[in-house]
Amino acid sequence: PQEQESTVAGSVKQQLSGLVLMSLRATVPEVEVEPMVEVSAKFADYQCNNAMGLWSKVKGSGTSFKNPNAIGQAIAKNLPSSDIIESTSVAGPGFVNIVLSNRWVAQRIQDMLVNGIKTWAPILPVKRAVIDFSSPNIAKEMHVGHLRSTIIGDTLARMFEFSNVDVLRRNHVGDWGTQFGMLIEYLFEKFPNWQEIGSQAIGDLQIFYKASKHRFDNDPEFKARAQQGVVRLQGGEERYREAWKKICDISRSEFDLVYKRLNVVLEEKGESFYNPYIPQVLEELSSKGLIKESEGARVIFIQGHQIPLIVVKSDGGFNYASTDLAALWYRLNVEQAEWIIYVTDVGQQQHFDMFFSAAKMAGWLPGPNEKKFPKTSHVGFGLVLGSDGKRFRTRSTEVVRLVELLDEAKSRSKSELLQRLTENGKIVDWTDEELEQTSEAVGYGAVKYADLKNNRLTNYTFSFEQMLSDKGNTAVYLQYAHARICSIIRKSNKDVEDLKMTGAISLDHPDERVLGLYLIRFAEVVEEACTNLLPNVVCEYLYNLSEMFTKFYTNCQVVGSPEETSRLLLCQATAVVMRQCFNLLGITPVYKL
Ligand code: ARG
Repeated sequence: PQEQESTVAGSVKQQLSGLVLMSLRATVPEVEVEPMVEVSAKFADYQCNNAMGLWSKVKGSGTSFKNPNAIGQAIAKNLPSSDIIESTSVAGPGFVNIVLSNRWVAQRIQDMLVNGIKTWAPILPVKRAVIDFSSPNIAKEMHVGHLRSTIIGDTLARMFEFSNVDVLRRNHVGDWGTQFGMLIEYLFEKFPNWQEIGSQAIGDLQIFYKASKHRFDNDPEFKARAQQGVVRLQGGEERYREAWKKICDISRSEFDLVYKRLNVVLEEKGESFYNPYIPQVLEELSSKGLIKESEGARVIFIQGHQIPLIVVKSDGGFNYASTDLAALWYRLNVEQAEWIIYVTDVGQQQHFDMFFSAAKMAGWLPGPNEKKFPKTSHVGFGLVLGSDGKRFRTRSTEVVRLVELLDEAKSRSKSELLQRLTENGKIVDWTDEELEQTSEAVGYGAVKYADLKNNRLTNYTFSFEQMLSDKGNTAVYLQYAHARICSIIRKSNKDVEDLKMTGAISLDHPDERVLGLYLIRFAEVVEEACTNLLPNVVCEYLYNLSEMFTKFYTNCQVVGSPEETSRLLLCQATAVVMRQCFNLLGITPVYKL
């Protein structure tokens, strides 16, 4: 691979921050501060906001500066010369307005076209991250909450991977626990020949689960056997291990159907994987004096919480929290992850708060005023609601069958596509395969985008009509916008692969400049989305980009104009950036629609 030039590496903000840092060191060598560079909405392209904060640090210490404005002036003057900056000005209490050089912006876009969008990857402060997402429970239903976790987690993983972080995509499936005694005994009872049957025989695991639960609740003799069953399973008895494995396999193949539809890759390391590590981890916490006896259980008391974190139940069994502590230990020490991210509904926030606190008390994670990494984050999300404003369910069953949901998204998008193509008389231009692939990309993309575009903490209402609409902020609208750009380029009959090597971009028209500046913000948008774990930031950017492109295209003639080459390259750059956004969101872009 080509070496990255230092002028390209990192986002524009990161590059400007580098220049500002040099200036700050020259301006006020006696204080150490972080550069504060932001996009500026009004007076310039970017601005540096360090002056006021610096003023409050140096005033009264015999400094020669008279006021924050004077500091701002000095920061502007001390900026090392660079071809990034066209001009600067200082406003009010020392804001340094920075105008970027058109030539530099144009060159940066062209470099991206030549060397690929990877050169616009932001630089993140970690090398390896664990993202724990999806994580359904064996034999229980994989509900819309798990769908949200799958979609959000996959997007975060894609954004980190794009930013050159080594991501361990972990499916922390609930494959261990007391319910297995019940399930296994029920399997033995219902299917005496269970060893011969294929996974299809049990058929619907959710129904199987319910039936066994019913039996468990109503027959004390069965209940006792089930409780014994857990002990035998955990004791490693062969027949029980095998039955456990069979049940997990059936669930797994159901989960895999959803992952395949969504094109999501996950590596399963379920709760059972960490079970052997629990005793030694609890031992360590115990030796640090963190574990106390309370009402027969072993617990960790955590400041600010009413109830303690139970790590060994009163019956001696381990639980969700003990497993999570062992998993965290493993991720920190064996996998050497610097950032460990958990994607679940907000309802689990307390669990994560408590066990993160326990890890801090154990000294596994740095305290509030120490270094930033390793670090843990809980990525919480809200509920999916139905049109009745209640928790989302489908008509037929109480829970939504995820595979059916995705099938419906696809078939709806297909019939809309067919209808439109028929009306336009364009149906003849499409092969069956193209129709299939496009309706899949559009349908699944719509489901993902509808989920991702909101701030993840808010609840959102699931509506096929809304998400499949071609108007407003929807994936369908964005797919059209992207396909339109591709068609502009196709119709020009020019080879952009050739143009990008021979032609040049210029940004003389105001709408060209606005579009160009927005394009080069891509890296900092991804950086922000990663830093704050907010995929909606990328959605917002993608939507705004398509709006800015429309404005540019309305006001700037492309094909047949004297600026044709430059403008075609801007079209191409927009299409490339849009595709990369789709990619990060796990949506397959379509080139023709
Ligand atoms: N299986 C859990 C559930 O369905 C989610 C697990 C999340 N990951 C974790 N390490 N606790 O709610």
